Amino acid sequence: THPLRIAIAGLGTVGTGVVRMVQTHGDKMLARAGREVQIVAVSARSKGKDRGVNLDAYAWEDDPVALARRTDVDLVVEVMGGEDGPAKALTEAALSSGKHVVTANKAMMALHGQPLALLAEEHGVALRYEAAVAGGIPIMKALTEGLAGNGIQRVMGVMNGTCNYILTQMEETGADYEDVLAAAQNLGYAEADPAFDVGGIDAAHKLALLAATAFGTRVDFAGVTIEGIEHISLTDITQARELGYKVKLLGVARMTDEGLEQRMQPVLVPARSTIGQLDGVTNMVVVEGDFVGQTVYTGPGAGEGPTASAIMGDVMDIARGLRIPAFGQPANTLVAANRAASAGA
Ligand code: NAP
Ligand code: HSE
Repeated sequence: THPLRIAIAGLGTVGTGVVRMVQTHGDKMLARAGREVQIVAVSARSKGKDRGVNLDAYAWEDDPVALARRTDVDLVVEVMGGEDGPAKALTEAALSSGKHVVTANKAMMALHGQPLALLAEEHGVALRYEAAVAGGIPIMKALTEGLAGNGIQRVMGVMNGTCNYILTQMEETGADYEDVLAAAQNLGYAEADPAFDVGGIDAAHKLALLAATAFGTRVDFAGVTIEGIEHISLTDITQARELGYKVKLLGVARMTDEGLEQRMQPVLVPARSTIGQLDGVTNMVVVEGDFVGQTVYTGPGAGEGPTASAIMGDVMDIARGLRIPAFGQPANTLVAANRAASAGA
């Protein structure tokens, strides 16, 4: 079997993690997939930057979209970020030229996921984004594979590592909001624009992707009611603690008679509850299915290692020949999120 030849666009926190993981576990990947995973080309903004990984063996492209035109590439890993711009141009070009795409880009998937999924299906290739939702937790795999026989009733959880880190650090150390946000940025948890994290937008992107997959609806990011944590003060957090509660940025998606309901907002949860005890960058996703009941998934929601782990899980599936649709069912069968709109369409 010929190797699965991959190109990586973006060599920041996530991209260097992917390089490090392939360099560390290439032999395990070969043993498990029966096929070598080989990095052949990379791209980022500054070629000369020291990234702490050896890139000498890989071809360099100044223009990330050029990766899609290379005939020696089977799969493109898109880890640059940005909902439009080069990330979307590269994803479209790669899918159109018959290359698989694995991305960590929740903004792009939440806004353009369905047309991109249609493009992938049209060209018979995979579009996967496990790393975009809840970091290292294999939640997309759980929804599209393990739970695929269930009717899903509700999906909820804590889906932004930066916010949970900020809230728990403020609570535990009394640290200032700005200082803790700066620490989350240094740890590689935050988005390029951290307003996406603290404003609840990043978590809402993830909730919209989970909901589309869970309920077979078109991604409806605009339909998420969003409130962030930027107005939560240290006083709010300490008063909640005195009453036995913690503040968490919690997302809930459920199907109602009126259609899909999606909310992302700060809530008070009992300090001793499972969600109340979530610490630091940890995320948690709870899925309720009609046959399985309630299942709970927890793990690191951001950072180099966890995100690279999710990317490589997708790459390994593709190496093994698995072709699961991006939203767990063909993109043209997804229905409008609002049932009334769907009936009137
Ligand atoms: P990052 O550290 O800022 O890295 C972004 C990389 O993309 C950099 O290497 C940058 O090049 C390159 N880049 C950006 N714009 C480019 C352009 N126009 N042309 C060429 N290269 C460009 O970001 P990250 O944290 O790795 O995140 C990447 C993606 O993963 C985002 O979609 C993010 O939402 C997602 N994600 C991140 C995490 C996390 O924990 N960090 C977790 C899950 C998902 P230079 O290095 O040369 O500037
Ligand atoms: N900024 C995101 C977070 C990265 O903090 O959860 C992981 O998606």
